[in-house]
Amino acid sequence: MSPLKIAIVGASGRLGSAVVQEALTRGHEVTAISRDVSRLAAADGVTPVAADVLDTTVSPPPIYLDEGDRTGTYRVQAGDVPIVDASGESHINIGDYAAAVVDTVENGAFIRERFTVAY
Ligand SMILES: NC(=O)c1ccc[n+]([C@@H]2O[C@H](COP(=O)([O-])OP(=O)(O)OC[C@H]3O[C@@H](n4cnc5c(N)ncnc54)[C@H](OP(=O)(O)O)[C@@H]3O)[C@@H](O)[C@H]2O)c1
Repeated sequence: MSPLKIAIVGASGRLGSAVVQEALTRGHEVTAISRDVSRLAAADGVTPVAADVLDTTVSPPPIYLDEGDRTGTYRVQAGDVPIVDASGESHINIGDYAAAVVDTVENGAFIRERFTVAY
């Protein structure tokens, strides 16, 4: 697909930096947002921007972040109620979270909507 321009709030954080890497790996152009640009890792394809964003429309992660390798399998749904599995738990690993966020952007899903991700 053609490269997209993706702005990522929280790009200096644990989850956001994984989403930045996922987007760059797929050839997209990233605007990385932090309150302090010195916290952003420099990389080709990344434009750092300093901003304090108090009210965002974002993807809330599930309750638990797992260690481990990306599986490529996950569920997404609109809203911010955590998705739970058969045992009532809500979890995902960082790689699958990042893949899900970038897949969603590429697919044009959940425009102006919150969405969440879990196994
Ligand atoms: N890690 C987990 O296990 C886990 C599990 C479930 C949910 N969560 C939630 O998921 C979110 C991200 O988690 P994380 O582990 O990636 O957190 P993190 O490493 O602490 O990163 C937080 C990010 O939010 C940015 N941020 C905070 N306030 C901001 C503001 N006013 N304007 C712009 N950016 C702002 C920070 O940017 P700067 O400080 O550079 O400005 C930073 O990039 C958090 O809300 C966390 O509570 C985390």
